[in-house]
Amino acid sequence: MQKARVGIVGCGTISDIYLKNCVSDEFIEIVAVSDLNEQAAREKAKTYNIQRVLTPDELYTDPDVDMILNLTIPAAHAEVSLKALENGKHVFLEKPLSISLQDADQILQVAKEKGLQVGVAPDTFLGGGLQTCRQLIDEGSIGKPVAATAFMMSHGPESWHPNPYFYYQEGAGPLFDMGPYYLTALIHLIGPFRRVTGSAQSALKERIATSPERNGEVIPVNTPTHVTGVIDFENGAVGTLIMSFDVWGATLPWIEIYGTEGTLRVPDPNTFGGPVYIKKAGELDWTELALTHGNTENERGLGLKDMARAIVTGSPTRASGEMGYHVLEAMHGFYTASANNQHYAMQSQCERPAPVETN
Ligand SMILES: NC(=O)c1ccc[n+]([C@@H]2O[C@H](COP(=O)([O-])OP(=O)(O)OC[C@H]3O[C@@H](n4cnc5c(N)ncnc54)[C@H](O)[C@@H]3O)[C@@H](O)[C@H]2O)c1
Repeated sequence: MQKARVGIVGCGTISDIYLKNCVSDEFIEIVAVSDLNEQAAREKAKTYNIQRVLTPDELYTDPDVDMILNLTIPAAHAEVSLKALENGKHVFLEKPLSISLQDADQILQVAKEKGLQVGVAPDTFLGGGLQTCRQLIDEGSIGKPVAATAFMMSHGPESWHPNPYFYYQEGAGPLFDMGPYYLTALIHLIGPFRRVTGSAQSALKERIATSPERNGEVIPVNTPTHVTGVIDFENGAVGTLIMSFDVWGATLPWIEIYGTEGTLRVPDPNTFGGPVYIKKAGELDWTELALTHGNTENERGLGLKDMARAIVTGSPTRASGEMGYHVLEAMHGFYTASANNQHYAMQSQCERPAPVETN
């Protein structure tokens, strides 16, 4: 195989950046698009010059498709991925891997049985900012990592998002929507988790949308909107995490990694670039460091490209289904711990993804 032939299911908001970044790639040929809304698929095919528009069912069984890019909403992630895998297609999908752990289990199980690969966003850890941080940690620039913090403090998306309803339902909220960026970055930088604990609350039972499209609409809140967590990493480091849609203002950093010989200030893990700062033991000021890796703009699709390369060359996928599963289990673990008044011991394991080579 020279290139993986990719068919897209889900031609909504996020599909544009994937199409823009992936239409011409060494290891990818986008051969077809599909959506429950046929018009949406037609428009993307026209804009990006994709030859074929199929129904999702036609796409799953098409013999000229090797891999499905699943860009549907979280509630459809499992159904679409399973149909693709059962028909012998590799799958890369947007986060989270699924809403429930049972569905995620089934996705990985079917992939294993069929000898297929599963990859899952986020892929921001493959960008220049987080790869620079990884290289610094691996080189020992801050000594041994002993602790980390990860904060996403906001007041939710209903002031700007045209359709914010789903953000307050199961499978979203700040933890499931934004947590994957932070948790994946922590696995990439420090390693997998041994156990987690947390407290999860909602400040409001209803939210009032103020975005122009939904101004005044009442949104029922059916998921926690402020989650505080503690992570024990396999290697002994300890992490503190807050993901919130209940905060009007804060001065906390995105991610910091504290080592025995210094601190690394990590850029926003929802982006691909910098800045990266370091403060070594005894130094008074932070130093901004030059990025060691490229891919620093909006590079969504890097994970898909990496997976296509993996399929063509027979090597592992960095944004792997196993890592996506570990992230999903940890997110459920924070809620379980909060409900049960005790730590949640992680059942799954995953590898730290291999760092990206410098050019
Ligand atoms: N919008 C963003 O800024 C953004 C950023 C990062 C990640 N994501 C992730 O990308 C995914 C998609 O988000 P979006 O904003 O593009 O959503 P969207 O609602 O704009 O688009 C989703 C599309 O999927 C289609 N769809 C839904 N169920 C389907 C099914 N069963 N079969 C075929 N098509 C189906 C819908 O018709 C729609 O066109 C989500 O997982 C989201 O978390 C979105």
